[in-house]
Amino acid sequence: MIMALSLRIIIKAFLLITATASSPPGGFTIELTHRHSNSSSSPLSSDDDGSSPYADTVFATTEYLMKLQIAPIFDPTKSSSYKAKICHDGPCPYKSTYADQTYSIGTLATETVTIQSTSGQPFVMPETLIGCGHNNTGLDSKSSGIVGLGLGASSLISQMGERSLGLFSYCFTGQGTSKINFGGNAVVSGDGTVAADMFQNKHGFYYLNLDAVSVGDNRIETLGTPFHASDGNMIVDSGATFTYLPDSYCKKVKEAVENVVRADRVASMGDMLCYNSDDIEMYPSITLHFSGGADLVLEKYNTYMNRGGMYCLAIMCVGPTEDAIFGNRAQNNFLVGYDPSSMVVSFKGHRLFCSVELKEITN
Ligand SMILES: *[C@@H]1O[C@H](CO)[C@@H](O)[C@H](O)[C@H]1NC(C)=O
Ligand SMILES: *[C@@H]1O[C@H](CO)[C@@H](O)[C@H](O)[C@H]1NC(C)=O
Repeated sequence: MIMALSLRIIIKAFLLITATASSPPGGFTIELTHRHSNSSSSPLSSDDDGSSPYADTVFATTEYLMKLQIAPIFDPTKSSSYKAKICHDGPCPYKSTYADQTYSIGTLATETVTIQSTSGQPFVMPETLIGCGHNNTGLDSKSSGIVGLGLGASSLISQMGERSLGLFSYCFTGQGTSKINFGGNAVVSGDGTVAADMFQNKHGFYYLNLDAVSVGDNRIETLGTPFHASDGNMIVDSGATFTYLPDSYCKKVKEAVENVVRADRVASMGDMLCYNSDDIEMYPSITLHFSGGADLVLEKYNTYMNRGGMYCLAIMCVGPTEDAIFGNRAQNNFLVGYDPSSMVVSFKGHRLFCSVELKEITN
């Protein structure tokens, strides 16, 4: 019997697949995490058969779940392919702590991980290094694990080796099923594709460089603010819902929104910019300008969240020492492709590319 796994897509730090004792029978969830190391991707193997691994993703309340299989049965005591890693006299311990202070502590092992592939044959990864979590926080009933998407040696991407090349793409939608693609099929190209320069020189994450934000026609440069940079100033994150900007710059963006919206601000929402009007036409459209030439015209859905009769700006301000984050709501309905070998993150909008038939469309 092969069990289906789901992956919760949350980016923050590197971690492996973790399983908790409370995993429901017949189901197992893992969280997808992004983290980037400075290791280089492997070259395309010449005997590649052209098939690409992929997994279905669905939105579940607050997070994105990715389905994959861990074979034959994710119960270490019943799985002949489960092998504990031994360090000195006992199992090798690991501990991963995430930006939101959730953590996973456990022991390392290897196990067979299987996902789908475009050839129709399962993509089998024998002896995949995983962390078997014994003490985890931040995992709810729908998700019981985390997967790393960075280029660190232990991430899912790196362990795919030559068949992923570090390439992956996803499209988040608030409804239905989409896919996360790896390898050749993850290349995002064609009409309407824009590419932003990718930087991986800080903290191991995938960074972009935000040059400016336009609120309607009002272009607000980062130049002249402490946020300005040329080598990456914003993490592109599949886990954070909101987009975060440092206060100094964030205030300018918020002010620009406030200058346009003609409705009463909801004071009780604290720092969140919310208005008592559900007339979305009243709210200005927002464009993110990234170094490399990606001017990402966001839909209202990407930047405003309906909170029953009011809309709130999905951009939050953070202190100067905190990371700026390009969150997943703002990425919704874009096909987002990571290509570490050319150091670009590509975006292709909109919806059309996020349908269940993503695979065919990107071919
Ligand atoms: C990766 O970064 C580490 C620490 O900054 C450095 O020591 C190492 O040489 C780098 N590796 C590569 C392949 O650039
Ligand atoms: C889990 O780990 C945390 C952090 O190290 C520790 O404080 C806690 O006691 C651990 N819980 C269990 C049940 O071992």
